[in-house]
Amino acid sequence: MEKILVIGCSGQIGSELTLELRKKYGFANVIATDIRPAPAEISDSGKFEILDVLDTSKLQLILEHEKITQVYHLAAILSGNAEKRPLASWEINMKSLINVLELARELKIKKVFWPSSIAVFGPTTPRYNTPQYTIMEPNTVYGISKLAGERWIEYYYNKYGVDTRSLRYPGLISYKTEAGGGTTDYAVEIFYDAIRQKKYECFLGPESDLPMMFMSDAIKATIDLMEADSSKLSLHSSYNVAGICFNPRQLADEIRKHIPEFLITYKPDFRQAIADSWPACIDDSVAKKDWGLSSEFDLPKMTELMISEIRKKLSG
Ligand code: NAD
Ligand code: SER
Repeated sequence: MEKILVIGCSGQIGSELTLELRKKYGFANVIATDIRPAPAEISDSGKFEILDVLDTSKLQLILEHEKITQVYHLAAILSGNAEKRPLASWEINMKSLINVLELARELKIKKVFWPSSIAVFGPTTPRYNTPQYTIMEPNTVYGISKLAGERWIEYYYNKYGVDTRSLRYPGLISYKTEAGGGTTDYAVEIFYDAIRQKKYECFLGPESDLPMMFMSDAIKATIDLMEADSSKLSLHSSYNVAGICFNPRQLADEIRKHIPEFLITYKPDFRQAIADSWPACIDDSVAKKDWGLSSEFDLPKMTELMISEIRKKLSG
């Protein structure tokens, strides 16, 4: 029987992934943790504990006491916020991963999930159809930490047999929990402002193409990868995940099909340079071939669902 620990359960991904894991593996078998309180849906449906992932002793105590077999390590500082506090973000993003990998090695944890990002790529990477293996020279502290993390998880696999699985998530779009301070957050914020005030001032320019993915597709991909037979995995760093490629102008056009008065204006800030350094569209053929990555949501389907769910949420 699997016993799962989620670290960072209160964030944009954790708040949905934890519930999906509980449905799949049993509510009592998924222990949720975060440095801040969890949404009621999580703290009321199973065990929740406050945990700073940098607190190695407490992490070890939980892993041993709960007899954890799998860890989903989601705690991190995202790209936009990390640029404001580079050294503190490096400390959290890297030290937390090393803590988890070391304890996974010592305690023989069966599997670890740790997400990487499109931020591992940089301005010298081919922007379109970005291959799995290519030039990687990230120029953000977040991207550098993700690339270093990919190297560490592969190192721990080769040297100690720690089985860490990882996806280079694109920007994730969801309606349950707000986005956590990244460069792709505009694609979540825009829906709230479109519904509330029928206008949005975008912090990226109109033609900023980026890869994005709807949350349920990302969660399915995560669990599919974690459940894939290890013999199918040709790499032990992190898999490219393409999702949907669009820019703010195209997303605004799609929103206008539902809210015709919607107006978008553009006021690019420091995140524009980050977006410009990332790929526009990614090639995820290796993930498709190895373990059957698939997704359901395209731009129209995602937009329709986001608008109807956020309307429901805002009307209480
Ligand atoms: P988020 O910021 O919404 O959530 C992260 C959670 O980690 C927060 O609840 C936060 O309280 C928690 N946390 C921060 N510091 C902690 C600490 N010291 N100890 C314990 N918990 C701590 O981020 P997210 O969007 O849910 O992202 C989760 C993971 O996925 C991160 O590794 C992120 O880099 C990666 N990722 C996210 C996206 C995206 O678009 N959301 C894209 C690519 C990769
Ligand atoms: N959505 C994330 C960010 O913008 C990508 O990793 O930081």
